[in-house]
Parts: sequence; C-alpha cells; structure tokens
Amino acid sequence: MFRNHEYQEGSWMKTLILYATKYGSSEKVAHRLAPKLPGDVQTVSIMKETPPSLTSYETVILGGSIYMGAIQKQLSNYVNEHLEELLEKRVGLYICAGEQDPEVRSKELVDSFPKSLYEHAIVKEIVGHEYHFDKMNLVEKLMLRMKGIKKSCSALSDESIDHTAHMMAETRR
Ligand SMILES: Cc1cc2nc3c(=O)[nH]c(=O)nc-3n(C[C@H](O)[C@H](O)[C@H](O)COP(=O)(O)O)c2cc1C
Repeated sequence: MFRNHEYQEGSWMKTLILYATKYGSSEKVAHRLAPKLPGDVQTVSIMKETPPSLTSYETVILGGSIYMGAIQKQLSNYVNEHLEELLEKRVGLYICAGEQDPEVRSKELVDSFPKSLYEHAIVKEIVGHEYHFDKMNLVEKLMLRMKGIKKSCSALSDESIDHTAHMMAETRR
C-alpha cells in the first residue's frame, strides 16, 4: 500500500468530522456522512467536546450551521486558530442553511470560512436545513415567522451529503 511520507504514522485514512450545531441538523449530517467515508472516521461536536489534536488525521471535515448570516463562533474561532494546520490536511466544508435566496446562501457558505481554507477545500457544500419550532425560544420563533417560516421541517439533502462523501473519497491520494 502506498503511504505518503508527509503523513504521520497512523494518520493514513483517518478522518475527523468536527461540527457545530444548535438543534442537531449539522450533527445529523456528520453522522450521515461518517459511514459513507473510507477508513477510520471520528465525529466530534465542538460544542460538547475538546477537539482532538489534528496531527493524527489525514482528512478534516468541518461543518456548522448559519444563524443571522453567520456560522457558529466556536467553529470559526477554532478554524482561525488552526488555519495553518488545516491547510496541510485534506479538507471538506459544509453548512446547514435555511436561507431561501440561493445567492445569499452561497455567500453564507463562502463567508463561513477563511478564503484560503475555502479555496483549499476539496468540497464545500450547503447540505440543507431543518427547523425545530418545539426547541426554539420565542425570539427565534418570531424571527422565523417574520420570514414566513411557520412550521418545523427537515430538508437535509441526501444528494449533497452523498456528493460530499463522494468528493472526499474520490480525491484520495
Ligand atoms: C433563529 C434562526 C435564525 C436563522 N438564521 C439563518 C440565516 O441567517 N441564514 C440561513 O441560511 N439560515 C438560518 N437559519 C436556519 C438554520 O441554519 C437551520 O435551521 C439549520 O438547520 C440549523 O442547524 P443546527 O440544528 O445544526 O444548528 C436560522 C435558524 C434559526 C432558528
């Protein structure tokens, strides 16, 4: 088996999916993505766990969700602090976003990550969204109602999740 000398012993085929979530959509995506990827895949919530050292991972997939036009601070802070290391990895990016205007949605994706990481990433996807009115606070419910969103829904895209997995698997060195 070919082993790339750049990668530390043991990192071959190891993937970390590091995600930020408020109501679970981004977590669902991480868990749907994981079994579709080759090798050893670990999913970690940045909201609940301390992310492991990146040294032992060949691939890192970063996922989060958009609130008021921006991705979770926990994820963007982490990315800014580990940018140099991330630029040495195989990287995939995804966001959950409910914005209806596709241009605004695409801009949310671009703006969620530093330009260098966005350009470096093998795949960057908008993977759909969910609304859970039963879990939201009053302000959130009102904000959505003002946008004409009145009901809970699940609109995660299996196609986008499959595309992400396919791109990450196909481009393996
Ligand atoms: C209060 C609120 C504000 C939101 N603001 C945006 C937004 O500005 N842009 C967007 O694309 N989606 C927005 N969304 C949709 C979320 O990104 C979507 O619900 C996503 O699936 C949440 O993922 P999570 O459960 O992983 O946090 C908003 C959702 C809520 C509840």
